[in-house]
Amino acid sequence: MKSTKARIEPVCFNSRIRGISPETVRQLTLPGGGKMPAAAFGTFHSDWAQAYMKDATVEAIRLGWRHLDTARAYENEDVVGEAIREAIRKGYIASADELFITGKLWNGHMAPKDVGPALDNTLKALGVDRIDLYLNHWPWPNVHTPGCTGEHRNPNAVPYIHEQFMETWAELVKQKKAGKIVHLGTSNHTALTMKLLLRDVAADERPVVNQMEMHPLFQQTELRSYFESEGIVCMGYMALGSPKRPARDTFKEHRADMQDPVILAIAKESGLSPAQVCLAWAVQRMNGSGGFVAMATRSDWIRDNLAAATGDRLTSEQVLRISGDGTPEHPGIDANNRLIWGQVFLWPEADGDWRVLWSDSQVFETRAAYERFKKAYWEFDRVRRETAVPANQP
Ligand SMILES: NC(=O)c1ccc[n+]([C@@H]2O[C@H](COP(=O)([O-])OP(=O)(O)OC[C@H]3O[C@@H](n4cnc5c(N)ncnc54)[C@H](OP(=O)(O)O)[C@@H]3O)[C@@H](O)[C@H]2O)c1
Repeated sequence: MKSTKARIEPVCFNSRIRGISPETVRQLTLPGGGKMPAAAFGTFHSDWAQAYMKDATVEAIRLGWRHLDTARAYENEDVVGEAIREAIRKGYIASADELFITGKLWNGHMAPKDVGPALDNTLKALGVDRIDLYLNHWPWPNVHTPGCTGEHRNPNAVPYIHEQFMETWAELVKQKKAGKIVHLGTSNHTALTMKLLLRDVAADERPVVNQMEMHPLFQQTELRSYFESEGIVCMGYMALGSPKRPARDTFKEHRADMQDPVILAIAKESGLSPAQVCLAWAVQRMNGSGGFVAMATRSDWIRDNLAAATGDRLTSEQVLRISGDGTPEHPGIDANNRLIWGQVFLWPEADGDWRVLWSDSQVFETRAAYERFKKAYWEFDRVRRETAVPANQP
């Protein structure tokens, strides 16, 4: 069933709002050279905003955003392509070359034979010859239907199988060597899946970026430090805490970043909005080594969010109050508040526990290793059901 989350604020584009000069926006240097704007405009529609994505993207380009974050899974690459063409027609940019475009290979296209055609379709829809950064969207080939509810399960879902992933990666490398991809990256990789990937690739086949969920209440400092120690640049998605995310990713345990008391206090004393505090922190933390992806459908928010990525909007003391440093004086506000639990990607042996997706407790080198595990798991399950006293027994 499709989620029917109601839209709260009216879409509000205002041509009188002046843009920001793209040159003033922080840039990140990618391994091997090349620059990437630290602020990426998100194009995921959260189910309700699909109708506005073209206009919002044109508005983002008008207001100075030069990095667009797209994905096949967002089902709107053609809409983003139209927005780019419209931005050129309106003179906001001279050509798509002025943009840095991130795209993502969808889970359903990870079979080697599907990678090339999927990339070709993406390039065609976006109207470009090559993509600046192409990410593998998720480490496993598990698909869910668009707009599905949190109860959706794919009976064919599998855990991370390194042998299988490397076949996908080899195909991605081939596409890069053919000139259709400038930089290759991953998204939602864990520490172990990244270690395995780095173990088995040549220097020019390494991912240069990992896109991952990061916001003040879910900082992922340790994982990010590991990626950075390997020279991988980290981009944080849901950088505002994704207040209008789909119902399947909304749980009563979740907290709202933009309503956190420390974020509100820093906003008050600095004259920034709570959103700007979250985003300025995202680009300033950890010596300004990473960036963010954020989406908005109002001109003022689109402009303000980009402004957060210019200069140092927070003092180092304010950054420290959010990040913390492990001392009682500076606890920070990280609350391990993961928004995407990923339960729709679970495979049968995960036993319904979404934490298995992130804990690296079910990662396999080969298909044969997973088959052995699966056989043993279901034998164990059978014996458990035959022998254990049911919990509801008097
Ligand atoms: N790699 C992955 O697996 C992955 C997963 C999730 C997301 N992403 C990417 O990350 C992007 C961002 O994620 P997201 O859109 O879910 O979350 P987000 O950027 O944290 O939050 C976006 C929401 O915040 C609201 N907002 C924006 N600016 C605001 C401001 N200044 N003040 C108050 N509210 C504001 C917007 O409302 P309005 O729309 O009403 O303006 C929008 O609904 C996505 O669009 C997508 O490109 C990647």
